[in-house]
Amino acid sequence: MIVSVVTLILTGIPLKFPEFDLSKFIIIDVLGGLQNSTLIHRVAAVGLIIVGVWHLGIPFSRSSGWRDFLLMIPRPRDAKDLLQTISFFLGKRASGPKFGRFSFIEKFDYWAVYWGMVIMIGSGSIMWFKEYFPKTLVRYSSRGPLR
Ligand code: HEM
Repeated sequence: MIVSVVTLILTGIPLKFPEFDLSKFIIIDVLGGLQNSTLIHRVAAVGLIIVGVWHLGIPFSRSSGWRDFLLMIPRPRDAKDLLQTISFFLGKRASGPKFGRFSFIEKFDYWAVYWGMVIMIGSGSIMWFKEYFPKTLVRYSSRGPLR
């Protein structure tokens, strides 16, 4: 996942801002041209898709998979833990809350990454197969400021 995301960023950002010298350097000098850089972007995208789909199989692949998935779902107790952690940091409590298998911090981290992956794969696929999607959706799938 790290390799795919770093590659996607390094090949995607110069595509978005081709007017910068650094973008030209990356696309032309480092990657050998636009065709190569968009090909590498797509290869890394397939890597990210494989990781994302693979990850969905974890609940079925081991006995602790479903248990961990269910324990990863945010619950009202997480909001309480957050408030207690803040009061602990502010010195209003002697100790922080006791966490279960996953703390609210781990849950936040986990869902932020997975949600980000869904967004990137979703919007990337729309750009990739734009002929099958309405024009407005394609325009809004482009990352960063719209042009
Ligand atoms: C961390 C993940 C990713 C980042 C940061 C990223 C970034 C970018 C950026 C900045 C562009 C420039 C073009 C524009 O926005 O108008 C772009 C283009 C594109 N991206 Fe990504 N992308 C990512 C993941 C993906 C994925 C998962 C896919 C496919 C499923 C994808 C497919 C495309 C396609 C088809 C283009 C159009 C340019 C081309 O022909 O290569 N991207 N991406």
